[in-house]
Order: sequence, then structure tokens, then C-alpha cells
Amino acid sequence: MITGKYPSLRLRRTRKYNWSRRLIQENNLSCNDLIYPIFLIEGKNKKQSVKSMPGVYRYSIDRLGMIVNNVAKHKIPMVALFPSTPKNKKDKLGSEAFNEDNLVCRATKYIKKRFKNNIGIMTDVALDPYTSHGHDGLLKNNYVINDETINSLIKQSLLQAQMGSNVIAPSDMMDGRIGKIRKSLDKNNFHDVQILSYAVKYASNFYGPFRDAVGSKKSLKSNKKSYQMDFSNKNESLREVALDIKEGADMVMVKPGLPYLDIIQKIKENFKIPVIAYQVSGEYSLIQSGINNKLINEDAIIESLMSFKRAGASAIVSYFALDIAKKI
Ligand code: PBG
Repeated sequence: MITGKYPSLRLRRTRKYNWSRRLIQENNLSCNDLIYPIFLIEGKNKKQSVKSMPGVYRYSIDRLGMIVNNVAKHKIPMVALFPSTPKNKKDKLGSEAFNEDNLVCRATKYIKKRFKNNIGIMTDVALDPYTSHGHDGLLKNNYVINDETINSLIKQSLLQAQMGSNVIAPSDMMDGRIGKIRKSLDKNNFHDVQILSYAVKYASNFYGPFRDAVGSKKSLKSNKKSYQMDFSNKNESLREVALDIKEGADMVMVKPGLPYLDIIQKIKENFKIPVIAYQVSGEYSLIQSGINNKLINEDAIIESLMSFKRAGASAIVSYFALDIAKKI
């Protein structure tokens, strides 16, 4: 691969000027690569800061017009909706997930009505924002039961599709749910609703601030290791993706982001399917506090997002998305 050698060969030659560096740049980050997550709360005209995520807010639905307008203006293709469900609406079964007046349903309708198909709406499928125990599925003897949970996820997916969600994103890690959800979407004539499977989701310590943002942190007494993946594993991620593609996933998610670039690259190489990276809440808070404490500068954000592109990601879910889109 290397032709020639020093002193005639000098790799610094093409790095000397800005125009030249731009010319040989191998990867590019654009607004098209970003997905913007939005946290929702009940109430009117509310913008509430999330303590564990400085610079991130929860919005009441009547405030969404302004935010989504901004997102669309900066050419971000899609928003992802996450509800902070009031405690009195949570129960063991996560029943609020099936209420067509819940936060996500109302927000989806609101955005669809105002923005039509000019922006994509992605909705999370999992029960954790709605359960009193904070787990993604139904509990029996303190174990999350797979097949019964899938029935709930199907109900949740169909409701979201009815409300106008474009991309159903199951983040629960139950076995077999993609196939069953695809089947029931098709049966109900939602052929065009996409499925973005969180195919590779690790039981990670980087989700802490998110659980605070959606209010599931205090309810969750144990961990999610019996359904989310062990962070020591790599081959298993290929098996997960292979299964989800077979079951009908249109895109797959790898989560968290930065500590898992090897996984993103491996999956891209093996499957050539759109791979989405999730730069999760803990990553956001670490970088943001580094910036706030003047330990690193703001360009560290672009550097982190570019690393996902380098690894082969098609897009990145990031709490920085809007700020960065304004910059690039
Ligand atoms: C819930 C869900 C989680 C995240 C997205 N969807 C948390 C979890 O699995 O506990 C994490 C996102 C983040 O940390 O930014 N199924």
C-alpha cells in the first residue's frame, strides 16, 4: 500500500493547507446524519431542565412546534420522542403505553399535523417509561418475561403507527419481537412504517442520565442484564443483527456509541445495512461537563460525531444534534 519512502514521501505535504486538508478529507458530517431526541412532559408552556444533562430540557407538547421547527430548519431528518411519564400513571404492566392520549401519542399527532412528511418521527418501543418497576417488559418473579412482553410491544407499536409514527424503534431487547411487530404492522396495513431495531443494546452504565430524564431511575431497583447485552461481547452482536434483519428490521441501532465503535464497524462490514449509532446520555453529560469545566473545547463534539461516521454509521442519535446542525 505504501509507495515510496521518506524523504521523497511526506504525508505532511497534503496536510499543510486548509484547502488541501479539505480535499483529502475521507469522511463528512452533515445535518443529514443526525437524529434529535426530545423529552416530553405534561403541562402547558413548560421547558424543564434535566439536572443530569446540562443543556437538555423536557418540553410540554405545546412547545414542540418551536423546537421541531428549528430541527426542520436545520435539515435534521428525524426526531426521536421520549416521555417523562408522571409517577401516578405508572403501573406494573406499563398500561399508559397503550393510552392513545399518552405523551408520545399526543406529541406524534401534533408533529404530524404541523409538519406532515417533512420530518421523520421515531418512537421508542419499550415499557420502561411506563412501568412502576422501571423495566422494559413485564415482570414475573423478578424476571422480565419475553413472550408476554412482546404482546405488549405489539400493542404499543400499532398505537404509535396509528398516531403517525414513521419509525418504530424497539429498544427492549426481547427475543423475536421484530418479526412479530413487523407482521402485525403489515396485517394492519402499515407496510410503510419502518422498523429501526435496537438490535445491539448493551447493559450499559452510560444510560444513567436518560433514566433520570424519563424518571425511571428511582423505580429501577435492579439492572437490565438479563435482556440487554454483556459489554464484553462482540460475536453476539452479529448474531443479534442477523436475526433482526431476518425478522424484517430496516435499520439497526448500536447503543451506546463511543465505547462501541468496533461493534458499529463490524456490523457495517458484515451486513451493509443502515447502522444507526446512539450517542447516549452518559456520553453527552461527560462531554458537556468537560466543555463546561473548560477541560476540552466544543470541537470535541464534532470529533466524537465524526468518529461514528468513520466507523460506518449512517446516522447518529445525539443530544448535541441541534447545536451541531446549527454549526455545520
Ligand atoms: C429505554 C431506553 C433507554 C435509552 C433509550 N431507550 C434506557 C435504558 O435502556 O435503560 C437510553 C438512552 C440514553 O441513555 O441516552 N428502553
